[in-house]
Amino acid sequence: MSTNPPRACVIGWPVKHSRSPLIHTYWLQQLGIEGSYGRAEVAPADFQNFVSHLAEKGYRGGNVTLPHKEMAYRLATRRTERADSLQAVNTLWIEGGELWGDNTDIIGFLGGLDAEVQGWEKTGDKAVVLGAGGAARAIVQALLLRNIKNILIFNRTLERAEELARLFGSGVTARPWQQLGESLAGVDLLVNTTSLGMAGQPPLDIDLSALPSYAVVDDIVYVPLETPLLAQAHRRGLRTVGGLSMLLHQAVPGFEHWFGQRPEVTPELLALIEADVTSTPK
Ligand code: ATR
Repeated sequence: MSTNPPRACVIGWPVKHSRSPLIHTYWLQQLGIEGSYGRAEVAPADFQNFVSHLAEKGYRGGNVTLPHKEMAYRLATRRTERADSLQAVNTLWIEGGELWGDNTDIIGFLGGLDAEVQGWEKTGDKAVVLGAGGAARAIVQALLLRNIKNILIFNRTLERAEELARLFGSGVTARPWQQLGESLAGVDLLVNTTSLGMAGQPPLDIDLSALPSYAVVDDIVYVPLETPLLAQAHRRGLRTVGGLSMLLHQAVPGFEHWFGQRPEVTPELLALIEADVTSTPK
């Protein structure tokens, strides 16, 4: 067993805008752990080689971001049930000579929602999810775990929404994007998982006026911190959750695997990352 300080990294392509090093370095300092967390910019063609030599490079594991999550799932020799259900891995660690893969998007999403809007699931069981990619899949799964029984998926490409709905079966329904506005009456929770509203992307152009006053609006986009969707929800006085919460909560399990202590998402950490997003809005 090596006595070198533990190391981990975020593996992506590109990876320079990742906030993960800031998050994990904050926790290392807070907990007084000698260790490090860096960035590894790895092209798709080199990913397999990089991951198979993680230990030789001195890493205990790492986070995996775009475009490597499906490949990481295939390369992991052991996977959590959550990773299996999503067929994508965002957290890798070496344990007992095996390369373990987990997907922490489900607990990240729920951790953020629980922290920002206590008792949100008591409001009701009707949710609308916008988008049908990997993030939407994790979020639908998360909502089903919390007994949200009536989930409508709206997506620009209806077929992808239908595919997702088929995967989950009863209780999850695909709807054409054009019907979105009229479908918001009686909805308890609206979640945006698309890239719309992100800096450099078109805004998410929907009218929230049909949402009830008790509804919660959650946007997983965190650059800018207040997306046009969240700004509209704030103007209506609705309860909201920004994407930074999910980002911070999904980072917790990886840190615990690599560095041996469970870190906490504190207001100080949130403020640190908010300041970074505000000063470098990319
Ligand atoms: P992720 O895995 O992060 O969820 P993804 O699989 O690329 O990423 O999914 C992005 C989502 O944003 C998709 O639902 C996409 O809609 P399509 O399935 O029709 O591509 C949605 N999206 C991206 N740009 C969009 C736009 N300009 N208008 C509407 N939806 C958009």
